[in-house]
Amino acid sequence: MKSIKEIAKTTKPVKQYLKTFITRYDELFRGIRDKQITLLEIGVGGYKNPEKGGGSLLMWSEYFPNATIIGLDINEKKINMPSNVTILRGSQVDTNLLNELSIKYGGFDIVIDDGSHITHNTITTFEALQHHTRLFYIIEDLHMAKAYGTKEYFNDVEGSDFSTEHLCVISKSNQ
Ligand SMILES: C[S@@+](CC[C@H](N)C(=O)[O-])C[C@H]1O[C@@H](n2cnc3c(N)ncnc32)[C@H](O)[C@@H]1O
Repeated sequence: MKSIKEIAKTTKPVKQYLKTFITRYDELFRGIRDKQITLLEIGVGGYKNPEKGGGSLLMWSEYFPNATIIGLDINEKKINMPSNVTILRGSQVDTNLLNELSIKYGGFDIVIDDGSHITHNTITTFEALQHHTRLFYIIEDLHMAKAYGTKEYFNDVEGSDFSTEHLCVISKSNQ
């Protein structure tokens, strides 16, 4: 199996702090790489360009060969993806959609929020998905929070860990 660093070199996710984030992700996820997990990443990348983005989903697809990977983006995406990846269009604050997806996929083992980075969106998404997440709920790029309060809010959430700069990792498995 290729390492996450090798995979990231070819799939090119646009994660702002790529090196620190993927090192941390590998620490968290290496024990479940071969499992049939379900991972939802909010924010496919490429913004309004339908043909751009998807680097992170490609990385997860290769890192977790037996997983079901779902990408959600507010903008339309027309990117070819491997068979274990589905890209959906929708907003991270559409709580009806989030609820429907949680039911459809039987919840998620991992949720990564790399979407709008607007504090009230980040919180709305977490509140909708937290009870449908089994292992890890992760928020990327905390430094980009476009309003005061993201870190303050998640500080009070059980299981939250800020030991990696700009990342909030909430471990759900021991809750
Ligand atoms: C930083 S990019 C994601 C990069 C990708 N995760 C990666 O690492 O390759 C952020 C994406 O979030 C999307 N986005 C912004 N607001 C959103 C919202 N309310 N709901 C869903 N996606 C949103 C943008 O269209 C953009 O494509």
